[in-house]
Amino acid sequence: MDLGLQGKKVLVSGATRGIGKACIEEFAKEGAAIALFARDEKLCSEVLSHLKKRYPQNIFVMVIAALGLNDSVKKAVDDAAKALGGLDIVVNAAGGSKRGGLGAVAHDEWMRRLDAKPLGLMAVCEAALPYLEKSDHARIINLSGLHGKEPVPWAAMAGAINAATHGFSKSLAGSLGPKGITVNVVTPGFTSGRRFDELIEITAKERGLSKEGAEAWLRELVPLGEPVGVEDVAGAVVYLASKRGKMITGTEIKVDGGRSRHI
Ligand SMILES: NC(=O)c1ccc[n+]([C@@H]2O[C@H](COP(=O)([O-])OP(=O)(O)OC[C@H]3O[C@@H](n4cnc5c(N)ncnc54)[C@H](OP(=O)(O)O)[C@@H]3O)[C@@H](O)[C@H]2O)c1
Repeated sequence: MDLGLQGKKVLVSGATRGIGKACIEEFAKEGAAIALFARDEKLCSEVLSHLKKRYPQNIFVMVIAALGLNDSVKKAVDDAAKALGGLDIVVNAAGGSKRGGLGAVAHDEWMRRLDAKPLGLMAVCEAALPYLEKSDHARIINLSGLHGKEPVPWAAMAGAINAATHGFSKSLAGSLGPKGITVNVVTPGFTSGRRFDELIEITAKERGLSKEGAEAWLRELVPLGEPVGVEDVAGAVVYLASKRGKMITGTEIKVDGGRSRHI
């Protein structure tokens, strides 16, 4: 299937790890020109040099800024657009949350995390808008989380951050549709690797289980029986970003192995 992504100009936040990094790999395979948005310059340089070796035909640039409602985000997005000659696709994959209910998370942790997502995600969208308006293939894809729609007592922050991401994205889809810009959400279930290992540790502690018991408990939450691969999530992002996704906006693709319970 021709996804029509050859030469498209893509900005991805959260470029150093996890889902953001996996998205970059998938876009690179499709021949896109990619700006890696990250805050850790050293780590990002390592990712960049790996990509340049693996995909010598592609254009890659990196822009460094901590996400938040601040001017450095606008400068990073402007620099990315200048280096690539515009922007067609923006993927907001940066962010994360701290586990715990009210009182369990320090105020500065709330501020720091919320500043990255949703506020930093909003700042990236705002800064990218003038470039997306000039594109004939304009897409925004925001990574959310299941607890945004299915809040749980042990993850108040994930609930707040991801509900805001859903609400913001839906609102944006309505306002940007008439400009030909699609806006969608991709929601991962827990991913394999470091994230899953951490979750096993936490679950074992919280539920008084062995590591094996905790892993079995977590797997039972997922009808397909296993954590999601970051490349599975990236596949959904790339589909929404492709020419095949041109009539999809204001919606969500869940890549969660069937874990969510809502319809
Ligand atoms: N993976 C999952 O199980 C899961 C589940 C639900 C939702 N999600 C959502 O999916 C998205 C991606 O998750 P992931 O698993 O790929 O996370 P990850 O592996 O922890 O990577 C997060 C990325 O975001 C970057 N980041 C975090 N805060 C930042 C800030 N203030 N400024 C700039 N960059 C920042 C990190 O950069 P550094 O390297 O500099 O820290 C890193 O590149 C997140 O929005 C997350 O909430 C993931």
